[in-house]
Amino acid sequence: MRIMSSPIKASHGAAYSRILGVGGARGNRVVDNAEMCTIIDSSDEWIQQRTGISERRWVDDEQTALTLATEAARKAIERSGVATDQIDAVLVSSVSNERRFPSLSVQVASELGLDNPAATDLQAACAGFCYGVSLADSMVRTGSAHYVLVVGVEVLSKQTDFSDRSTAFLFGDGAGAVVIGPSEVPGIGPAVWGSEINTGEIIHSDEFEVAVAGGFSPKIHMEGNKVFRWATTYIVEKTVETLEAAGLTPEELDVFIPHQANNRITDAMLRRLKLPDDVVVSRDIKMMGNASAASVPIAMEALLESGEAKPGDNALIIGFGAGLVYAGQVVVLP
Ligand code: ACO
Repeated sequence: MRIMSSPIKASHGAAYSRILGVGGARGNRVVDNAEMCTIIDSSDEWIQQRTGISERRWVDDEQTALTLATEAARKAIERSGVATDQIDAVLVSSVSNERRFPSLSVQVASELGLDNPAATDLQAACAGFCYGVSLADSMVRTGSAHYVLVVGVEVLSKQTDFSDRSTAFLFGDGAGAVVIGPSEVPGIGPAVWGSEINTGEIIHSDEFEVAVAGGFSPKIHMEGNKVFRWATTYIVEKTVETLEAAGLTPEELDVFIPHQANNRITDAMLRRLKLPDDVVVSRDIKMMGNASAASVPIAMEALLESGEAKPGDNALIIGFGAGLVYAGQVVVLP
């Protein structure tokens, strides 16, 4: 049946949205490759050559996913200039909530004293932050929220299988957050996102009940070379599509912040994108490891803090990982 009229009012929001502020928080423990090689049979040279990682950051005894997320979010809100009572939605992406519920979003809102915002968690592993950015963009433009706090946070050191030397050295702990609000000009380009079904086992964690029954906590398992092949073929093409979707040429891009999974994946993306030499490329993995949903916003904060990237720069961001899933967009840096 065709409906010709409806009594329901639809919401309408801002013409565009943009990122207004970014903040990050890193695990306090610095674990260099020498220390890592006391845990697994490997070498500093192998790890650096294969991934670009020199050291990674792990939480100390005082830090948790909640403390990291709260620290990053507090910085992002302060830098955005938005009052806490104006934040009307919170999206936290994580695979590191210690409890199935309450959500990290509600807990972060509570820690920050926000004014009862809409709050929900997302789960798209390493792509989760970029999923959150596009969802927040849609929320602001449809008027379902005005200012959205988007956080990516992970504590992967507690989910690492240290008996598997092919993954144990990869992971780091941290959080990154942004506030997204209305804009008079486009500040967030179209999402290029999707999933590849029937690939769930390539990166997966142990089932909760199985782990509990076995007396251990769920650990991450990954067939690294399958993910590597997928990232350096399929995802490389998605970076090109993301740039095209935003209507930008490689010459118009200022900054490239891919998920910090492996410098060799970043190199493959750069070869295909043919970016000019003056485009700033994040290599945050060197000091951080792979912090999954936190990796892109933490890297964004680092480039802005070091002055390598400037507010107003166009940045291509893309995340990819367990699912398998991916999401990318071009954003204007705050
Ligand atoms: N030290 C020394 N040698 C090692 C180590 C180690 N830590 N780990 C593996 N090797 C050896 C292997 O035994 C193997 O030796 P062999 O050839 O004699 O059998 C050789 O190195 C190659 O092993 P691969 O596993 O094929 O190593 P690869 O070059 O693929 O590197 C890595 C592994 C770094 C994990 C890579 O596959 C990778 O980065 N994959 C992508 C990961 C990724 O992008 N993940 C994204 C999402 S993560 C998430 O969602 C949580």
